[in-house]
This record gives sequence, C-alpha cells and structure tokens, in this order.
Amino acid sequence: MLDITNKKLVFEYDTDQFDFVSMFSNVLNLKEASIDNLHENIDSSFLPKSEISVDNDQSQDIYSILYKIDKGYNLSESHINNRGKFLTKFDDFVTFLAKTVFKENLVYQNRPTLRVAFPGNKAVGDWHRDREYNHPLEEINIWVPITKANNTNTIWIESEFDKEDYAPMNIDFGELLIFDSGLKHGNVLNQESKTRISFDFRVIPASVYKEPDSSSSYSQGIEFKVGDYYSKTSL
Ligand SMILES: [Fe+2]
Repeated sequence: MLDITNKKLVFEYDTDQFDFVSMFSNVLNLKEASIDNLHENIDSSFLPKSEISVDNDQSQDIYSILYKIDKGYNLSESHINNRGKFLTKFDDFVTFLAKTVFKENLVYQNRPTLRVAFPGNKAVGDWHRDREYNHPLEEINIWVPITKANNTNTIWIESEFDKEDYAPMNIDFGELLIFDSGLKHGNVLNQESKTRISFDFRVIPASVYKEPDSSSSYSQGIEFKVGDYYSKTSL
C-alpha cells in the first residue's frame, strides 16, 4: 500500500491521453485563448465581486459555466451511471492512478470538485483539513492543476501535521499531487496575474475502506459511501 503519512507526492501523467485542458477550454469557450487567461476572456459578470470566503467558495459565478463540463454534475439526475466525456475520462484517470501509483483498487469521489482562482482572489476560503467537513479520516487528497500552478496561484500545504507553516506546491499541468488528508491546506490571494484552474478529489484505498454505519457521514445530502459520493475502480 502507498505510504502517504505526512507526505506530499507529485506524479506525472500523459496529457495526450488525459487531455483535460481541451475539455476545460471547450466548456469555457476559450477557442485560441490560453486557459490561464480566462479572466481576460470571460464576461466580467463572471468575475468575483469580492474576496471569496469559506461560506461561498463553491458558489462563484464561473462555476455555473464550468460544471457544464459534464452532464454527470446535474444533481437532479442519478449520477452514478450518467457520465459524459469528462467524467468518463476522469474514471480512466483514477484507474490509471490505482494501477500505477496505489497498486490496488480505489474508492474515489466520483465527481471531482472544480476550482478557479482568479487573479486577486482565491479558490478556497480558509486553511482546513477536509475531515473538518465530515470527510472520512481514511481519505487521501488528490489535486490536479489544469494550468501551471505556482507561488500564489497554487495550493499551499503545511510541511507536517499541525505546523501551519504553509508553502506553495509548484506544479505544472501534466503533474498531479497526492497528499495526506491530515495536512492542513488552503490558498493565499492569487497575485500571479494568471488564472489557476484545477480539480481535486479524494480516494480511499479499497483495503482500508469501511462502509459508513452512521448517518453522520453526509455532506450536502450525499453520503460518503460507494454508489453515492464514491465509486470504486475495478482493476
Ligand atoms: Fe481541502
């Protein structure tokens, strides 16, 4: 089993096989424009009016466009088998990780969370660990930038549990970050003059996954179990 305790690991993947940039560019209607110039190529009504906070970081106006990337994000439908091009490619991506990095099946968040950090703003509101929001302790965090992510427009993570000495994870498109969910993380204000776009999701190695036995394992009405919040790879 992959030992991730107190760690942050970076891996590369094939961007021809997993061409997330073109999918994000298409849904954002960017045509020739570089995806990290989204802020200059979108109607200004979609730019945040003030600094986003923990209460509204998933309700930026841009997400009303971005989540159209796949029909599976339509919460009014049963989503498990309702997968378009992006989520199908995402399933393949998780299978790739299960095979090459974890070397075992993964229980995984079946619709990754999408993030945009515009210049002068953030993508998430506060320093946190996902377990503060009911997520199971066994989860491992995976973070995948669609744009170059460096300095103030990337994720910041503490060096060890509870140190709170946050530092930027400088990684490029074509790389992914896996980190221990016990490490606190968050953003600072993006001062790089480029938009950062990323997606993130959580996995549990199948060998340590436990079916939840209480009703406390809900987030926004979705239960943290396979067939609801999670799917499972089949190697
Ligand atoms: Fe988080």
